[in-house]
Amino acid sequence: SRSIRLAVIPGDGIGPEVVAQGLKALTAALPSDVKLETREYDLGARRWHATGETLPDAELESLKQHDAILLGAIGDPSVPSGVLERGLLLKLRFAFDHYVNLRPSKLFPHTASPLAGRPEIDFVVVREGTEGPYTGNGGSLRTGTPAEVATEVSVNTAYGVERVVRDAYERAQARPRRKLTLVHKNNVLVHAGHLWRRVFDRVGREYPEVTTDYLHVDAATIFFVTQPERFDVIVTDNLFGDILTDLAAAITGGIGLAASGNINPTGAFPSMFEPVHGSAPDIAGTGKADPTATVLSVALLLRHLGYEAEAARVEKAVAEDITGRGSAVRTTDQVGDALVSRVLASVQTG
Ligand code: IPM
Ligand code: MN
Repeated sequence: SRSIRLAVIPGDGIGPEVVAQGLKALTAALPSDVKLETREYDLGARRWHATGETLPDAELESLKQHDAILLGAIGDPSVPSGVLERGLLLKLRFAFDHYVNLRPSKLFPHTASPLAGRPEIDFVVVREGTEGPYTGNGGSLRTGTPAEVATEVSVNTAYGVERVVRDAYERAQARPRRKLTLVHKNNVLVHAGHLWRRVFDRVGREYPEVTTDYLHVDAATIFFVTQPERFDVIVTDNLFGDILTDLAAAITGGIGLAASGNINPTGAFPSMFEPVHGSAPDIAGTGKADPTATVLSVALLLRHLGYEAEAARVEKAVAEDITGRGSAVRTTDQVGDALVSRVLASVQTG
């Protein structure tokens, strides 16, 4: 019989609350012959305070023995900025070579969005996940003095750019509109920008059915707001992708709905699925967190593991739930329960 070994990292703040709902939805969606084995990892602020550890090697090795990872959120104001982000979240993305950071954006009818009523917002950002300014290259000289110099070096390799660009072409090719937009800033970042552009054009010759387009990142932010329907698949570097996907979330109903997958398409290491939002310590424990982003991340997880029909059911449940949302305020648990009922109902009707 089939089985899924899932590593679960609830993490900080609202992480554990939204992950609990994600697991409920996952269990509801999976066919009954699939055995789900979960193992929870105590990583994040609590662990760091207690032991000084962020992600010990033994844990990294153990995480590797799974088919996928579900992560809630990492980060807490009581921990210096960067310690958990670099030492845990980015360490995982780098160690497991998650070079495709997949972030879909879809505007569901009746979503509270500043762009509500737009004809169609349905695009996916393929954000590079292992290079760019995130590699930690750089340093600071004469730290703390008026003569301080700090550098953050963006690392872009032909190998790294090509593999993510190729993945984006494949995704564009598989979608009805078959359009791929490269976003960079090659009028200023001439070294990295021109590498991206050359690779983008060269790989594109292998995908004659895909229409291509290039935008500078600043112009792209304008079009996200004024003409979001022009986008289908976007491929971009790690930092531009980080910024653009928060904006993408804002125009499609907010960060409470934005899902992501940190994917290693080769399958050499487990891929990791997480909501785009952070740990939101201000609302932790209040039941106000919307678990929808985590549930949609579970759909990406299901699709990645080959459970396409199940993924589609979860996404349909979310679409129905959002469309049917009234003005009543629901708790994290209530939203989770509503999604589970809808998933179960659609399992019954096939
Ligand atoms: C995200 C987050 C992370 C990132 C931080 C927490 C390191 O903002 O997943 O978008 O910058 O990638
Ligand atoms: Mn971000």
